[in-house]
Amino acid sequence: MFLKEQKTIIKLSPRLQAVAELVKPGLKLADIGTDHAYLPIYLIQQGKSPLAVAIDIHRGPYESALKQVALQGLEDKITVILGNGLEPLQPGQVDVVVLAGMGSATMIEILEAKPELVLKLQQLVLQPMVGVGQMRKWLVENGWAINNEILVKDDGFIYTVLSALPGEQSISDWLTLELGPILLKEKPPLLKDYISKMLSDYENVLINLAQTQSQEVKQKRLDLLEKINLLKGVISSGFKG
Ligand SMILES: C[S@@+](CC[C@H](N)C(=O)[O-])C[C@H]1O[C@@H](n2cnc3c(N)ncnc32)[C@H](O)[C@@H]1O
Repeated sequence: MFLKEQKTIIKLSPRLQAVAELVKPGLKLADIGTDHAYLPIYLIQQGKSPLAVAIDIHRGPYESALKQVALQGLEDKITVILGNGLEPLQPGQVDVVVLAGMGSATMIEILEAKPELVLKLQQLVLQPMVGVGQMRKWLVENGWAINNEILVKDDGFIYTVLSALPGEQSISDWLTLELGPILLKEKPPLLKDYISKMLSDYENVLINLAQTQSQEVKQKRLDLLEKINLLKGVISSGFKG
């Protein structure tokens, strides 16, 4: 996170750094759920984004964003708004929307609330805290093609960051939705750790389900076993590094 309360070049956490990395240069940016506005401040300071809008729904984060932007003397480049999702924006006002640090369901709700704006975007950069598979599914079903994916470890957790561009992409199988078409192709070493964590979560659920004998639970167990096999298949197919 941000270390010093004074005008300085912002240093981002590894998670936000990965988000910043995926933003295409030269695009007007909206950071929804900006909190402290570190991401737009960093992108403007790096010269990667020409202009930004930083939006947050809660007064505390909004005031924190206002304060940081003023501290960096970037009021002419970053507009800070107290508001809900994309609501304060006009279609065409920004080219890329970043949503980071929220669940996929909230992100999807925000994107679906303003389709006329989303239709005009050139890029989405998303870092869902949960439901990454659900996020990928929404993207490919709503005219977006995933062009980049990063796994990043920050404070013991592994986060996924997605970039999508307008376009057609067809992904329907569970494994590719969960792990990502690019990550599955590139197989970075962190993917193995990510899968291991999924396997241990699923195995814990299996243990809990073993107590119940209903038909519905039996089916759940079979589904989980199938997923576990698919994940183990990826691990046994080998990794870089
Ligand atoms: C966990 S913080 C993430 C902050 C920052 N994006 C990051 O990744 O470090 C989530 C932020 O999203 C804001 N938020 C949640 N729902 C929102 C919405 N519908 N519109 C705007 N901001 C929202 C919250 O107030 C909070 O500041």
